[in-house]
Parts: sequence; C-alpha cells; structure tokens
Amino acid sequence: MIIAVDGPTASGKGTIARAIAAYFALPVLDTGLLYRAVGYQTQLNHGDPDNSTDALAACNFADSLLDDPALRYESTGGLASRVSVHPAVRKALFQRQVDFANQPGGAVLDGRDIGTVIAPYADAKLFVTASPEERARRRHAEMLGRGVEITYDTVLADIHARDARDTGRADAPLIRAGDALLLDNTALDRDAAIAAAIAFVEGKVAR
Ligand code: C5P
Repeated sequence: MIIAVDGPTASGKGTIARAIAAYFALPVLDTGLLYRAVGYQTQLNHGDPDNSTDALAACNFADSLLDDPALRYESTGGLASRVSVHPAVRKALFQRQVDFANQPGGAVLDGRDIGTVIAPYADAKLFVTASPEERARRRHAEMLGRGVEITYDTVLADIHARDARDTGRADAPLIRAGDALLLDNTALDRDAAIAAAIAFVEGKVAR
C-alpha cells in the first residue's frame, strides 16, 4: 500500500503522514528532507542554490547529513525550495524516492509531487493544506516556542514566497493530483485532521 501526502509548507502534511504511517505500521519518508539536504550541502560547498550545476553537485550529500538538526532551520527550507526548482536535482533524487515507495509492504511519502510524479499509482493520495495566514500563525507559534525571534509578518512573507516558488516552477510544481483528497485543515485541530486522513485511507484500502 502506497500513500502519497502532498501539500504546501507548514500545512501539517508531515504530521499527518507520520500519523498515517504509525496507524498502518508503514515506513514513512519526508521527501522535503532530501531537498533540504541538497540545499544545505550546496551552502556547505559555497555553491549558489540558484545555479543548477552547483545544486546538482550537492546531490551526493552523505546520508549522515539527514540527521543534522540544521536541516530543520527555516533558512534551510528556503535553500531547499531554491534547489528543488532545478530539473537535474529532481531527477537525481527521483529513484531514491521511487524505491522507497515501492518497497515490499508499501510506504507513506510526504512532499510536493508524490501523487503526481513519484507515485502517481499510489493507493491513496491526500493534498493537505490550510490558509497561508493559518500556516504562518502555527509556524510562528512553533518558532517562538523554540526561542526563535521572528515576527509573524516575516513568517507569512516567507510562506508566500515558498508557495509561489513551489507552485510556479516548471518541473513537478506543487499541484493537487486530480484523485487526491483535499484536506483543508484551516479550521480543524490536529486530531480532527489526522482522523479525517486515516478515515479516507481506510476507505480506499477497504475498496
Ligand atoms: O516539506 P519541506 O518544507 O521540508 O520542503 C522543503 C522544500 O523542498 C519545499 O519548499 C519544496 O520546494 C521542496 N520539495 C520539493 N518536492 C518535494 C519535497 C520538497 O520540491 N517532494
């Protein structure tokens, strides 16, 4: 069973993907982490994330980098969104994601193009979203909780910039697959969103 969970930044898709994976006892891959590793490695190499050759060179990052807490930084998310525009980078990361999806027993993957490019044949697809303002509110509260000093307006501006880059790129843009459930959790709390996601997947699997 393959489950695709796509959506914009700070939509809660990672939380939902992990909850689905725990419920169905499946392995889960946060594909954003791969792009974050490429963005961060580009910086470590003193490369330019907007340059395709520099970004491609960073695709052979060491697997140990995936455990680096720096990948979670907001600034690394920005680097990831810049390197992910390059078709050569997407191609370099493609097989790793497909192999994860196709492992025996199945898997859950979350990202931007799982239901459209990586696993268009997935058994269940979800497109998780919330309004930019609500996503900014949650991300801002979470960052303040971690002691990061940042204004709400800065977080909202970053979310708008990331959305524009992710939806506007030519290769594998962020878009809802026609057969994906649209799960807008603007007015839902975490538990209600998870319950809706699991009920949808169960319905698909039962068929
Ligand atoms: O999901 P996360 O915020 O960690 O992703 C970081 C960036 O990586 C996104 O803004 C997006 O540009 C890119 N990404 C992508 N395709 C994916 C996952 C992430 O382009 N499947």
